[in-house]
Amino acid sequence: MKFHLEGSFRLSAEAGDAVKDLEEFFGGAAEILKKGAADGKGAEITSWKLGNTDISVVIDSDRYVRAHDAVLRLRRPLADLLGKKYRVGVRGIEISKYEIEVASERSIDHKIPHVKEMKHEGGVLTLSLEVDESDLKNQVPDRIVSLLDEKLAAEDYGGKAEHWELLWESEPRVPKFERDPTEELVNRGWIKHGASRGQWIYGPEGTHLFRVLERIVLEEIIEPLGYREMIFPKLVTWDVWKKSGHALGVYPEIYYVCPPKTRDPEFWEEVMDYYKVTREVPVELVKEKIDNPIGGMCYAQCPPSWVFFQGRTLPNEDLPIRIFDRSGTSHRYESGGIHGIERVDEFHRIEIVWMGSQDQVKEEAEKLKECYTRIFEEILELRWRMAWVTPWFMAQEGKSGLSEMTGAGTVDYEAILPYNGDWIEFQNLSINGDKYPRGFNVKAQSGEQLWSGCSGVGLERWTSAFLGQKGLDPENWPEAFRERFGEMPKGIRFL
Ligand code: SER
Ligand code: ZN
Repeated sequence: MKFHLEGSFRLSAEAGDAVKDLEEFFGGAAEILKKGAADGKGAEITSWKLGNTDISVVIDSDRYVRAHDAVLRLRRPLADLLGKKYRVGVRGIEISKYEIEVASERSIDHKIPHVKEMKHEGGVLTLSLEVDESDLKNQVPDRIVSLLDEKLAAEDYGGKAEHWELLWESEPRVPKFERDPTEELVNRGWIKHGASRGQWIYGPEGTHLFRVLERIVLEEIIEPLGYREMIFPKLVTWDVWKKSGHALGVYPEIYYVCPPKTRDPEFWEEVMDYYKVTREVPVELVKEKIDNPIGGMCYAQCPPSWVFFQGRTLPNEDLPIRIFDRSGTSHRYESGGIHGIERVDEFHRIEIVWMGSQDQVKEEAEKLKECYTRIFEEILELRWRMAWVTPWFMAQEGKSGLSEMTGAGTVDYEAILPYNGDWIEFQNLSINGDKYPRGFNVKAQSGEQLWSGCSGVGLERWTSAFLGQKGLDPENWPEAFRERFGEMPKGIRFL
């Protein structure tokens, strides 16, 4: 990666008298420009010239001390030199040209902010930047470099390499059922497809099943470990997703939310009248009358809860804090792969969140894992396994690999579906490190960095795993589950 910058320091007056000192200054600038870089690396002043009331410079660099950092590094010592002895001030830095060159097999075919031109020639991608001094200080060029790094890494690995490493696997169990559980659920009328994509309506039997699973979570985890119920918002604004990192990558999967431009009925009259006459909703017209999206519907469930804690300090004796939410649906615009209740656009999840010191958060994760193991082994009697995977908080930002924070990361719980032999992820458990407390500026009284964790129990997925292995006939269910299920509610009948 190469950086080429042409710019100038704007001066408050002529500095002709200082020419000797300036020669010395720029001659010896290497010390400033190579500081912190490995041997032979860093930035170099290719040329400089004293003008009337400015000093123009050309700086070339590698990625160790980038040319824009170099020019910023020069400003203060230059101002000291000219100010003390010559009473000339440095008013600012003008950038007339800034180019970044990087080896790349391909070009980027869309606009990037602050990039006014992109050229791809002979395996080199050259970006011409449009930046001023405040952009340099705000790290705009560095973010462009990170963006390039990310894209080129993806090019090297041929896309995102998801991490997956087996941690534990249950004993094999003979399946009691080998068909598609959704088909069976539909045939028996326990569930029905909703009007929307990837959406289901749960009849009394399906709903009872969900509630029983939920009660198992309450009785086996929430109550013994002392989690308190909260209600998290289900409409999530950009502001939350900026802090959670979702703003980096979640766009293809969001269900967007747009408010009306106004709630004045007159403004909407045309729409209403159109419908009244044609019985068609004029969606193009509606599109004109709604505002920009303010965010989207709940996606990851825990991020909006952090607004409750934002900017506050938690008392030591209240840590770890244990909370959970089961107040509504999550929504994802899934790819073509929507299938049955296994992969849906609208789903139900209990989200468990805990926060405390690093040790407390790790200890809590272990307690939860023990509870889960007991549920899956002794109540649901599943064939399941655990894998160490790319953390959800990275995957949802579009990143691959593992977290750099030791001990932070995600365990996926997977269960086999005998009908197709696939393992489905039916829940996860994560230590999210300091990501959320940092992102939302939440502190511990002790001054120690807060950590947090979360675990999402997906009811559709638990149902798929359980029914996929045991089927819909209660006589094939494990005793412990059958007891909890009690009597099957009467379903809705049709003529
Ligand atoms: N928030 C986590 C996720 O979205 C756990 O539910 O995966
Ligand atoms: Zn979460």
